[in-house]
Amino acid sequence: MSKILVTSALPYINGVPHLGHMVGCLLPSDIYARFMRMMGNEVLYICGTDEHGTTSEVGALKAGMEVQAYCDMNHDRHAKTYKDFELSFDFFGRTSTEQNKEMTYHIFEQLDKNGFIEEKTIKQVYSIDDEMFLADRYITGTCPYCGYDKARGDQCENCTKVLEPTELIDARSSISGSKNLEVRETKHLFLNLPKLEGELSAWLKTKEPFWPDVAYTIAQKWLKEGLKERCITRDLKWGFKVNKEGYEDKVFYVWFDAPIGYIGITKQWADERPSERNWKDWWQNPKEVRHVEFMGKDNVPYHSITFPATLLGTRENWTQVDFLKGFSYLTYEGGKFSKSENRGIFAEDAIKEFPVDYWRYWLMSNAPEGSDASFTWDLFAGAVNKDLNGVLGNFVSRVLKMTASKVGNKVPEGGEYSKLEEDLIAALQQRVNDYIKYLSEMEFRKALAELRAIWVEGNNYISVAEPWTVIKSDEKRAKVILRACINLIRIFAILSAPVMQEVAQSMLERLGAGMSSLKDFDVKKEMNALKGGESFEVGDVLFERVSPEKLEELKAKYGSAK
Ligand code: MF3
Ligand code: ZN
Repeated sequence: MSKILVTSALPYINGVPHLGHMVGCLLPSDIYARFMRMMGNEVLYICGTDEHGTTSEVGALKAGMEVQAYCDMNHDRHAKTYKDFELSFDFFGRTSTEQNKEMTYHIFEQLDKNGFIEEKTIKQVYSIDDEMFLADRYITGTCPYCGYDKARGDQCENCTKVLEPTELIDARSSISGSKNLEVRETKHLFLNLPKLEGELSAWLKTKEPFWPDVAYTIAQKWLKEGLKERCITRDLKWGFKVNKEGYEDKVFYVWFDAPIGYIGITKQWADERPSERNWKDWWQNPKEVRHVEFMGKDNVPYHSITFPATLLGTRENWTQVDFLKGFSYLTYEGGKFSKSENRGIFAEDAIKEFPVDYWRYWLMSNAPEGSDASFTWDLFAGAVNKDLNGVLGNFVSRVLKMTASKVGNKVPEGGEYSKLEEDLIAALQQRVNDYIKYLSEMEFRKALAELRAIWVEGNNYISVAEPWTVIKSDEKRAKVILRACINLIRIFAILSAPVMQEVAQSMLERLGAGMSSLKDFDVKKEMNALKGGESFEVGDVLFERVSPEKLEELKAKYGSAK
């Protein structure tokens, strides 16, 4: 048994999660965590809200609330949405806690002591109309590298290049739109990344054979361009006050304390379970812990360069990221999700329209792993109708109904499997091995295609075996076929469980069967788990079809491609 630490990028507290956030870090991390637990590993799955920064100040301002109260309210809203999406966090915490503050102070002190912190007087953008220094992301302008005209002062989301706000062309305040900006001098602290470059580059090389392209290429590109010193303090009120003389009126930059939040949140989790848990078992235990991170591609530089460098600079024995799974973007009907323009479906609404497993299945089957992927209602309805209703749901109800009506509500007894079943078992074992391999490698699209192919094997088997015909002449043989099919339902449930927990439970409940481990999953053994005589219930349909009328209604309600 190994210790697997799974983290999902910590969502900004002020944002409303949409399907892109769900597919870009939250769902895949959950599926991986569930899968690793089912493989018999000790898993700690951590997430939480990323609460500091001007975005929170501005969000609170707009809501007419104190920042703390605003964050409390939004934290609960995030937590509820993720619960509805069946995310199996061991702990969903926050970055604004005492634990994270202590951790941030500690890490900063080590960096300072080891000579990786520099003081510099810099010029920063002050908005005269807004009466404040503007945080980098609150300045909008044209990216000097790629020409994208809505680049933010901290990063261009088009080319992922991290920017200094003064580099932007035609800069304006994103709060008021005012171009009445002035550059003022202010003193700040910098993390000396160039000093850590060699070490970091050597560390990154050890990851090369393992990291997926999206992540590795971005990190490599950064190193090639040469690292610059990064400012880690800000002139803001909301945040952790900087624990250094002369900086009392400043706070740490949100991107400094946010990734430390993974550790702070783990400490919070451990503090609530004092005798049994210690956060150091996870975070200062690199030899025994495998740390897997999930995030959108815009987050990759922070997790592959700045945060690892931060930890390296402490000269302490931290658990670093072992595998970084980055995702591209999900578009909505070919465009962008936008809350303000009322385009796209957000997680809170999605769950009101369809049960969670419809979303989990569709999103992960279409995860933007290599390049961007597009959500369209047509694709979604197609997958629900064909794969979920047509392949899986139909198999389950057909088998259970047929068995109930022909031989009664008990798994049929007697007879042995024949060549047809032996062939099925061999084909399934191959596919199951591939499915497990893909999930281990976090190749989600491939894994889900394999899962679907496994369901299809069941459908093919029943069409060839034709129990409805066989029963007329050979009842004993028909019973063997039906027993094989019922065992398939149990197998499909177990294999689907990391992706669709509710559906898997519902399938198992009908059979009165329990969950089983995925480790060394032996199809032959599992095909004989239900030996005959166990009673079952037919139950309701597993998945409702999306009707053409409903489809039109959804397009009208949430917007669709013109
Ligand atoms: N809040 C960031 C985002 O949503 C992610 C922060 S990840 C962390 O893009 F590790 F820094 F917390
Ligand atoms: Zn750019």
